[in-house]
Amino acid sequence: MRILITGAAGYIGSHAVVGLQRQGHEVQGLDDFRAGRPDAPEHLGVPFHVLDAGDEEAIFALLREESFDCVQHFAADVHVSASVGAPIVTWENNVGTTTRLLSAVRRASVPKFVLSSTCAVLGDSGAALVREDDPVCPMSPYGSTKAACERLLEEEVSAAASAGAPFSAAVLRYFNVCGAGAGPFGEPIAGSGHDVRLSQVLLDVVQGRRDHITIFGTDYATPDGTCVRDYIHVDDVVAAHSIVGDRLKSGEFCRYHVGTGKSTSVYEAVEAARRASSHPIPVILGNRRPGDADSVMADSSRLQALGWTPGHLSFDSMFASALNHRGPQ
Ligand SMILES: NC(=O)c1ccc[n+]([C@@H]2O[C@H](COP(=O)([O-])OP(=O)(O)OC[C@H]3O[C@@H](n4cnc5c(N)ncnc54)[C@H](O)[C@@H]3O)[C@@H](O)[C@H]2O)c1
Repeated sequence: MRILITGAAGYIGSHAVVGLQRQGHEVQGLDDFRAGRPDAPEHLGVPFHVLDAGDEEAIFALLREESFDCVQHFAADVHVSASVGAPIVTWENNVGTTTRLLSAVRRASVPKFVLSSTCAVLGDSGAALVREDDPVCPMSPYGSTKAACERLLEEEVSAAASAGAPFSAAVLRYFNVCGAGAGPFGEPIAGSGHDVRLSQVLLDVVQGRRDHITIFGTDYATPDGTCVRDYIHVDDVVAAHSIVGDRLKSGEFCRYHVGTGKSTSVYEAVEAARRASSHPIPVILGNRRPGDADSVMADSSRLQALGWTPGHLSFDSMFASALNHRGPQ
């Protein structure tokens, strides 16, 4: 397939460019570098379009020119805390951009669309393993924007079917992505000012960029009191994109959970990072952050039924892949 990847200069999008290319697809990247790596085009070695994914006319011209079979949409504002402080900015980029991109996709008759979504649409369900049809209940503006994009996409597939247009789409809800693999870049260095992933903070400590980790809340309803999450390796996310994109049937809309179903608490992740690095990891205990659920775990049986199996099952192995990654700084 000819695939356009938006957000191709970002963490997951850059892995997807390499991973989907290795699966034999003809891939092109798109990013406007508002958050990604400006050196991505030189390291990815695929045709690269420096464009705003929400510039409908420019995207329409590109889609017509290149006759893509599929758009895989990774571009988004991804920081939960930034979204809490400035919801309009996040809604404009996530929902506004996706709306205009989808309009261009529709006008250019691109038949397939795959959206990056997140377990942040789910909130704190209390269920042991969350399924795709469980109710959504976002706990942040970021989660709300992704839930809105999912709904828009579902409605667009339905409208296209009514109009007899062969359009299909899938939503992949990733749980907590970490690790490094196919892409040229490892996990992004954590910046200050925004929430960052736990694995990034742990990498910062063991690589000497910060001197401790703060654990936000130790009184959650979990076995050791710290938040429990389902971590998924970035290459396993890309493998899900490949399988789902290949299998999409005309007129179909489907959601998939992308996680291992294995729980890791914050304390367990800190211990795993100590084991992998043999480096001391000083811990400071802090207060809870707004919007953090006790435990969010994926039931990914729908995705596994397509033949997807995660290659990395433990946080140890995911963290080690990031720690041992060698690539451009
Ligand atoms: N990282 C995670 O743990 C995680 C978990 C669940 C879902 N997701 C989703 O996966 C996707 C990728 O996340 P990531 O961690 O790689 O983020 P990232 O910030 O590393 O990458 C996002 C990329 O999109 C680009 N971008 C944003 N808006 C754009 C626009 N309007 N036009 C062109 N480019 C634009 C940015 O410049 C950046 O390169 C996002 O949709 C995110 O919501 C990520």
